[in-house]
Amino acid sequence: MEKARQRWGTRLGVILAVAGSAVGLGNFLRFPVQAAKNGGGAFMIPYLVALVLIGIPLVWAEWTAGRFGGGFGHTSAPGIFQSMWKKSRFIKYLGIFGIFGPFLIYMYYVYIESWCLAYAYYSLTGQLASITSGGGFIEFLSGYQGITETGVFSGTLPGFVFFLITFLLNMSVTYFGIKGGIEKLCNIALPLLFFFGIVLAVRVITLFAPDPLHPDWSSINGLGFLWNPDFSALKSAKVWLAAAGQIFFTLSVGMGVILTYSSYLRKNDDVALSGLAAASTNEFAEVIIGGSLVIPAAFIFFGPEEIITVAESGAFNLGFVTMPQIFNQIPVGALFGFLWFFMLFLAGITSSISIAQPSVAFLEDELKIKRQSAVKIFGVVAFLLCQPAIWFMHRGVLGDLDFWGANFIIVLGATIEIILLAWIFGIDKAWHELHQGADLRVPRVFRFIIKYITPTCLLTILIWWLISDWWDTITMKEVASVDVPYILGTRLLLLALLGVLAIMVRVAWHRRKLTNAAEEAES
Ligand code: TRP
Repeated sequence: MEKARQRWGTRLGVILAVAGSAVGLGNFLRFPVQAAKNGGGAFMIPYLVALVLIGIPLVWAEWTAGRFGGGFGHTSAPGIFQSMWKKSRFIKYLGIFGIFGPFLIYMYYVYIESWCLAYAYYSLTGQLASITSGGGFIEFLSGYQGITETGVFSGTLPGFVFFLITFLLNMSVTYFGIKGGIEKLCNIALPLLFFFGIVLAVRVITLFAPDPLHPDWSSINGLGFLWNPDFSALKSAKVWLAAAGQIFFTLSVGMGVILTYSSYLRKNDDVALSGLAAASTNEFAEVIIGGSLVIPAAFIFFGPEEIITVAESGAFNLGFVTMPQIFNQIPVGALFGFLWFFMLFLAGITSSISIAQPSVAFLEDELKIKRQSAVKIFGVVAFLLCQPAIWFMHRGVLGDLDFWGANFIIVLGATIEIILLAWIFGIDKAWHELHQGADLRVPRVFRFIIKYITPTCLLTILIWWLISDWWDTITMKEVASVDVPYILGTRLLLLALLGVLAIMVRVAWHRRKLTNAAEEAES
């Protein structure tokens, strides 16, 4: 007899959990930067096209495949893929990407999440309020990260303490499982996050241009900076790629995370409407809230010229240097600063618990390790493997992990998933599965999109990347020579991890064969 599997408690619970995974730092920092850099309002055209042609189809594909595999007791990609292609001997190995990808992101995401917690704390203690210049904030951040020795942090690494706290918080949520941990947290964290986000957006939109010399530096013009279209951008393939990349990233598709979450559904639980609801929640957080915060705020305080430099300096700079500078100039800024960083922290933790789950699920349901022990094993390994990004961040380790996790593996994973579902499992069966217990009839045109358009777009992007940046990335062309050993070390570590996962899959399937044979002999 199979032991009872973990399940979600309520329908709202699973939607909030998937939305919690999708709503992350990407919504509030990555999206505005991408939009501002790639044609402002015009960016939204490829963005919406990619949402309909790639994002939503992948969301449905993952929810459908996950619930299907869950019906066979599988909760991570290797087993779910196997259940969709029973005859294949190798497909379970491709499923390794659905554990490896999330784990890889975990190796740096929790660290970044811990900065948000730290900055929320420093907002309340007034430490951020005492910094008077942009340069001061840059120095504070790098001191905090232990990259430079500065007066405030000399000889210590406070960043590590906050990492520890964040890591332990993550582990305790994971420890209490799907219903008792993840669902409970998301039921509170998501509404709270939206509340903070809306308060902040209203605050930014009602700010007056503070500089009497520049009355046109207003929040409305700031929104205009983001939304006024530059249609010439549409001719650039780079803009289309950036838009598609942002869609994958923000929806957390192609990773195996939604696959795992939806495997805890029951056979007749709806996936069509729930998937759409989770994706819409994410889009609201991204386009409406994310679009009304950093860019308009930075526009008001820095104006139309400097904001371009600000946007180009990257998402971290915008979040941890520019934003606190702005909070220092508005009434009760410390409170708004706290809301901002705590909102980012909530967005982060509801995402990081979702990237831990595929690994834990694999240990639990394929290697048959008790959940509590599985979480402990995961905790020790993950803790150790989070260290390189913390200690060698200045050597480019974090950036390299992000490249592999957030760019390459997402696209590869998504391509594998959609081809498996639409072509091997078959679009007829897939369409039927999608509508099993569904509260929404998906328009028929999506049959065509899922079968032809989505895979074509994905293959195009994958091949494009192979041609355009791949060789330079693999040969580390842009890596400074002092950093080469660190990057090389990181990549070898990742390869070793892939190898270990492959062995674990082999062991799990071998054992299952033995148990099945023993059971047959008995009966
Ligand atoms: N969607 C997350 C964000 O917007 C980032 C992300 C990408 C992610 N893939 C993921 C989070 C997988 C959790 C799981 O920040």
